[in-house]
Amino acid sequence: MNTSPATSARVTELLAQLTVPEKVGQLIQYFYFGIPAALAGEESEIAQQPRAVEDALARGAVGSLLFVTDPAENNRLQKLAIEGNRHGIPVLFGFDVIHGLRTIFPVPIALAASWDAGTIEEAQAVAAREARAVGIHWAFAPMVDIARDPRWGRMIEGAGEDPFLGSVVAAAQVRGFQGDHVGAPGHLVAGPKHFAGYGAALGGRDYDEVDLSDQEFWNTYLPPFAAAIDAGAGNIMSAYMDLNGVPASGNHWLLTEVLRDALGFDGFVVTDANAAKDLETHHFASDAADAAVRALNAGVDMEMAIAQPAFENLVAAVENGLVDTARLDDAVRRVLEIKEKLGLFDDPYVDAAASEAVLADPAHRETARRAAERSAVLLHNDGSVLPLDADALGTVAVIGPLADSKRDTIGPWVFDHDLDETVTVLDGIRAFVGDRAQVVHEQGVAYPKRTFPSMFDMWGDTSPTSAPDFDAEAALEAAVNAASAADVAILVLGEQQDMIGENASRSDLSLPGDQQTLLESVAATGTPVVLVLMSGRPLDLRWAASHAPAILEVWYPGTRGGEAVANLLFGAAAPSGRLPFTWPRSVGQVPLHHAVTRSHAPQDQVHRYWNEESTPLFPFGHGLTYTSFSYGEPRVDAERIGRDGTVTVSVDVTNTGARDGVETVQLYLHQRFGTSSRPLRQLKGFRQVTIGAGATTTVDIELGPDQRRYWSAATRDWMLDASTFDVWVGADAHAAAHTEFTVTD
Ligand code: NOJ
Repeated sequence: MNTSPATSARVTELLAQLTVPEKVGQLIQYFYFGIPAALAGEESEIAQQPRAVEDALARGAVGSLLFVTDPAENNRLQKLAIEGNRHGIPVLFGFDVIHGLRTIFPVPIALAASWDAGTIEEAQAVAAREARAVGIHWAFAPMVDIARDPRWGRMIEGAGEDPFLGSVVAAAQVRGFQGDHVGAPGHLVAGPKHFAGYGAALGGRDYDEVDLSDQEFWNTYLPPFAAAIDAGAGNIMSAYMDLNGVPASGNHWLLTEVLRDALGFDGFVVTDANAAKDLETHHFASDAADAAVRALNAGVDMEMAIAQPAFENLVAAVENGLVDTARLDDAVRRVLEIKEKLGLFDDPYVDAAASEAVLADPAHRETARRAAERSAVLLHNDGSVLPLDADALGTVAVIGPLADSKRDTIGPWVFDHDLDETVTVLDGIRAFVGDRAQVVHEQGVAYPKRTFPSMFDMWGDTSPTSAPDFDAEAALEAAVNAASAADVAILVLGEQQDMIGENASRSDLSLPGDQQTLLESVAATGTPVVLVLMSGRPLDLRWAASHAPAILEVWYPGTRGGEAVANLLFGAAAPSGRLPFTWPRSVGQVPLHHAVTRSHAPQDQVHRYWNEESTPLFPFGHGLTYTSFSYGEPRVDAERIGRDGTVTVSVDVTNTGARDGVETVQLYLHQRFGTSSRPLRQLKGFRQVTIGAGATTTVDIELGPDQRRYWSAATRDWMLDASTFDVWVGADAHAAAHTEFTVTD
């Protein structure tokens, strides 16, 4: 019997009593869709699914369910599960709790843009509390995939381009979801995903293959997973795509040698939806039975199945000697252990009567508003146009297709939200301004059309669309007239929420539809323009950055997003978010990120394209606020240290403006020579500090061996070189204040 020393007597005994079919049942997770047959189609597989799942529950052949968010329904299904197997083993309920359940927080890329672990942890703790209150045990989150190609729509679900920031954000999310241990009351099991490398899809096309060098894999793509595992994550989800020619969900090297042996992961591994069966689709496995064997033997513990599970074939595979029974037991043990840690053997049901009060908790909405305020990034503010003074404005024109769209305000990957309580930017501005100024609204353009339907349309909860007879000319004219007659034009533009996310890549980064024309026409009126951008990826803002005096990236800010945006625009709150990715000028530059190595012609590093600079429009880490800061000369406490030594870098930061403010002090490191060439700049530390107007704060950041260690393709091993190191400290990846130190043998 394969048991780890920590396995309880209860799990050991239970495992010993299970037959092979009962064991296999524990390894299957079914979707249980609440999608009305009327939307999915009466005869569709999705409409048939509930009956098939209930049959399986009654046979004791289900380990877990996903997509149930109604507590009464959850209890009904749990009862079927418990009564359906002779040992009364409960099912585990998983769900995509990505940025909230009822209270919707800013999307994950926005939370990352707060650069504030406290805000992130607090948001995901609220999400966990709400989800647990309806009977969910496990979140398929956080997504910790590094994304350096904004054509890839799932960049919105992660923390951007950087492994250091990504690791801080990953750990904060795991702590928020899970609390300090698996089974902490009111919390969920966290399931970092998608292991691993999924964000590097060829051409930014979701699901397409990934070819990653070993050094990119170990140095860039793995650290956020390592950080999430160190924070105690109880689950990992394996990815869909081919990694260097081997599908991630059938990749023994990836799921066993890397995940278990190198990263020391001790929880259970679930596949992405249908990813076990997909091993056949990939032309890797010969059929579904072969797919099941290869997934399990690679290190998958549980199959997430949309319909007929491949893992049902494991019963015969055991009889035929195709799977190692110790591996089977190991997988079952992990699943039983997680159920035990969650307390499900003793307390499998949820208190359905108590859930509504938790979901309605006003404190959750306040947390969402604060998170939205902390996430917005002020990209540009010429002549301090922002903050606006509500008392000095006669008329405010709020223009654009996203200004009053509740569904777009909360972003993708939400299912259980309440649109009635969602505050749009228009609502927020109206409430803030009250009767101090007149607020007028024009949509300005039609909602842009997608070329194919979103995979989420079947929930019947789509972004608004315009009628075929929408009068584009009249709408534009009305918007221009409104802007001409106003003292300021606030344009709320960007991508609708279903243009980004899973299976929503784009081949260009322009403002969709006629929004660029709207922007240019409104700017031509001469009324000052404030561009409020809703997106989960960088868009082409070359024109906007040189014509609109102010640009505020608000992402998809969530349930109380409009209120937060109004507070920021009118100065009741100040922006403090920072870009978690490099903002390119145009799509032709991507992938563009800050941690590139030095070329043989560094003097021309900005002139690689004949038609355009190769620098970004806004650097990684960029973000303005309503005051300004200056940096003194950074100092190190030791100019020479040994290989295992640590230096402390100190810098004085002064608030040179008239208002208190939050500064995110960033430290970038460069190794001048060594076993490999190392990136010109890599984020290796940051501190967020509040500094009073006119005050100076000294910020200390430690740099130890962990921040200098890297995997080298020269030795195919981890290196800690003796070398000279450049350090820059400042407000973004272009920071100028410099010092250096040397590491000796
Ligand atoms: C597919 C997605 O890739 C994954 O992130 C998600 O958790 C599952 N579907 C379940 O919805």
